[in-house]
Amino acid sequence: MKRILVTGGLGYIGSHTVVALQEEGFEVVIIDNLSNSDAAVLDGIESITGVRPQYENLDLRNKQDVGAFFDRNSIDGIIHFAASKAVGESVEDPLLYYENNLHSLIYLLQECKKHGVYNFIFSSSCTVYGEPDSLPITEAAPVKEAVSPYGNTKQISEEILRDTCHSDENLQVISLRYFNPIGAHGSASIGELPKGKPQNLVPFITQTAAGIREELSVFGDDYPTPDGSCVRDYIHVVDLAEAHVVSLKRLISGLNEVNFEIFNLGTGRGSSVLEVVRAFETVSGEKLKYKIVDRRPGDVIAVYADTQKANDVLGWKTQKTMEEALDSAWSWEKKVRGVQE
Ligand code: UD1
Repeated sequence: MKRILVTGGLGYIGSHTVVALQEEGFEVVIIDNLSNSDAAVLDGIESITGVRPQYENLDLRNKQDVGAFFDRNSIDGIIHFAASKAVGESVEDPLLYYENNLHSLIYLLQECKKHGVYNFIFSSSCTVYGEPDSLPITEAAPVKEAVSPYGNTKQISEEILRDTCHSDENLQVISLRYFNPIGAHGSASIGELPKGKPQNLVPFITQTAAGIREELSVFGDDYPTPDGSCVRDYIHVVDLAEAHVVSLKRLISGLNEVNFEIFNLGTGRGSSVLEVVRAFETVSGEKLKYKIVDRRPGDVIAVYADTQKANDVLGWKTQKTMEEALDSAWSWEKKVRGVQE
């Protein structure tokens, strides 16, 4: 049985990927420092799969701890999620972002080299494209100057990975550029649980509907889009998780063509903020309180993925709709908050 290290495996995308890995017969060991997650996620994972993954509370900024972990554990592949991801916070505290997101990657890669761990999947983001020149965005689109330190850490991380792959042909890396992951596992046993006030759209919507937030602020309705609000490609987190398993199998089977590959992970469909709000109201039967406010600095107008490369090369495509994702996000929120039907 292949043993996979999932860093940030108790986080939102990480936990869904752990479930997908276990369901496909992988043994999982999780590293997570609980900076934006909770150890109770282990219970949720176990209730779905019947297997409690091995877990170590470890901070990847601590080089010695990372080295000691690899000395103790035999690992066949790594899926590296652990990173800070709040755009606004990264503007206020860039050094935290550079330290956390880059040190962790460098220390992991050093251990990969030392211990011969060659299969590596990296969590990247469509943020690397900035405001695209044309839509949908293919992987060949240029990487634009980052608008935030967070976005810059993703760009620099991809450069670090590219250079390291160039210097060591044994290392096999796939970088997955996520569009906007939303939704929760169908069991409502795991889902998105941001600490504090949500920065992302869907958790803000579900928390507003659950009565935790007063109302949703829609950031701008004067963009050059059909209804004036920003357009994004919202992908169900369960579909996204599956893409990690497919990518990992590609590396383990040696099917990758070059040792550093990049794939967009999205649905190929753009939806505006107001369309998401309306779709949520339809699936939940709840009226959502919202108001239009000023644009949020740093937001791009519209992004959605060209999914052809992932479809053709990975043989993966999304199965679930945005409505299913919103429905599952709402079921999860209601369960967490104890909202009565
Ligand atoms: C943002 C980052 C992206 C990062 C992701 C991780 C930018 C430009 N992009 O994605 O790089 O990977 O977070 O979390 O910052 N919205 C509202 N009201 C809200 C919240 C959001 O109207 O309360 C709107 C936003 O203006 C945007 C859309 O909803 O148009 C999605 O926002 P969000 O969920 O924050 O994701 P991104 O900004 O696309």
